[in-house]
Amino acid sequence: MSYASERQQAVTAALADIREIAGAASPTRERVEHILTRLLELARTEAWWADREFPAPLAEERQARYLISEQPDQSFALYLNVMLPGKTITPHNHTTWAAIAAVEGVEFNHLYRRIDDGSQSGVAVLEHARTLEVGPGQGVALLPDDIHAVEIRGETPIRHLHLYGRSLETLTGRLAFDLEHGRCAPMAIGVATRR
Ligand SMILES: [Fe+2]
Repeated sequence: MSYASERQQAVTAALADIREIAGAASPTRERVEHILTRLLELARTEAWWADREFPAPLAEERQARYLISEQPDQSFALYLNVMLPGKTITPHNHTTWAAIAAVEGVEFNHLYRRIDDGSQSGVAVLEHARTLEVGPGQGVALLPDDIHAVEIRGETPIRHLHLYGRSLETLTGRLAFDLEHGRCAPMAIGVATRR
C-alpha cells in the first residue's frame, strides 16, 4: 500500500475516534487533551508527512499549510504545517478548540493569560504564562479562549499537525494580540491553505 493510501486510512480512523471523543458539545479541556493523545498517534509515522508530498515553503514564505481533512461542514479541520526557522506567529486565540502534535522538529509555543477585563475595545493586556517546546511525541491542547504564540528556531523545517474544531477559513472572530502596545485586533489567516 502506498504512503498516501496508508495515511488516508489512518487519518479517517483517527478523525472518527476524535469526533467520538469530542462529543456533541464544545469539548472540555480534559476532552481536548484526550483528542491530542489520539492526534499524537497519527503524528508518529513521519513518512506519512514527508517533504515528497508536502514540500517545505519557499524561504520568503516560511510557512506551508496543507489541508489534510475536514468534515463537509468544515468542522474537525486537520492541517499539516511545515514551517521554517525564523517563522513567528503573533499571540492569538482560535475561538474554537485546537490540538497541535509534532511530527518533526520543535515548535516553541508561548502561552499567555489575559489580565485585563476585556471591557475596552481594542485593548488587551497579556502576561506570559509558560513556554512549551513541542517536539516529536509531544503536543499542546488549547481551548477556544487560550492564547498562544508560535516560534520556530533551529536550522531545519518543522512539521506539525494542527487540528481545529472548525476550519481556520471559517474563524472570523479570532484576535491577534500586540504585547508591546497592549492592543488586540482581528487576526488574518496568514498564508493561504494548500489543498
Ligand atoms: Fe494558533
